[in-house]
Amino acid sequence: MNKQILEKIREKREFSQLPEKDIEIAFSHYENRQTSEDEKVKLTKELLRKVFSAFISQKLLSLKNKEPEWILRKHISTRERLPYYEKIYQRIFTDDKKASVIDLGAGINGFSYKFFNEKINYTAIESVGQLVELMNFYFKQNKLGGKAIHLSLFEKEKVKEIIREQKKPRIVFLFKVIDALESLKPNYSKELISEIVPISDKVVVSFATRSLGSREKFKAKRNWIVDFIKENFNVLDDFEIGGERYIIFGK
Ligand SMILES: C[S@@+](CC[C@H](N)C(=O)[O-])C[C@H]1O[C@@H](n2cnc3c(N)ncnc32)[C@H](O)[C@@H]1O
Repeated sequence: MNKQILEKIREKREFSQLPEKDIEIAFSHYENRQTSEDEKVKLTKELLRKVFSAFISQKLLSLKNKEPEWILRKHISTRERLPYYEKIYQRIFTDDKKASVIDLGAGINGFSYKFFNEKINYTAIESVGQLVELMNFYFKQNKLGGKAIHLSLFEKEKVKEIIREQKKPRIVFLFKVIDALESLKPNYSKELISEIVPISDKVVVSFATRSLGSREKFKAKRNWIVDFIKENFNVLDDFEIGGERYIIFGK
């Protein structure tokens, strides 16, 4: 894409490390509008904010040496999940084998590492570079085996290559990330899921069952993804904990 526009968008700290691919897709929504370039840049930033930074505290964007629980509370998704991690991971890791977790659109979920048993080989993939640095800093400082990779999930072939490089059994997480993918590229999550299921042992998709900050349920909106999974794959478990529904499935 046009480098000048790219730079304008990256001037904002929260977007400064976003992969070009994500910015390009966001900009393509407005590229052909009959409006000024400034307006297109403004609209692109609004969309990027919704997808990449609405749920994180700005404090996370500057690297700090903080306790994992402090960090987990600075992101809406992990904060809401914090009391339930043990239960959730118990349901996902049902056997004793050493498994590889590939956490797609991880946010800062790598900070939940201590809730895994010892046997997990953890890889996070995330577009927000600052969150990737934060997780890698934590893994290194605590001599943990996890790693985080700075990559857009729209780089599908690279994502698949990373999954294939991990030892089996492979468990792929897509926690609260479907909405983000759909708002940039409708139907992309179906395509991505269809291509990662054959190279994974289990895939776990989650989504919020109530809107952030409100008790209100919005079940109907998510039926399409549930139907898609049920129609095409083998559902192994399906449960709701802490306002989040998890569907575990495989080939
Ligand atoms: C609502 S957060 C959920 C974070 C984490 N999965 C969790 O549940 O704790 C969505 C995350 O997906 C990331 N994300 C969205 N679109 C992405 C993309 N195309 N490639 C990589 N990461 C993406 C965002 O930056 C954000 O960290």
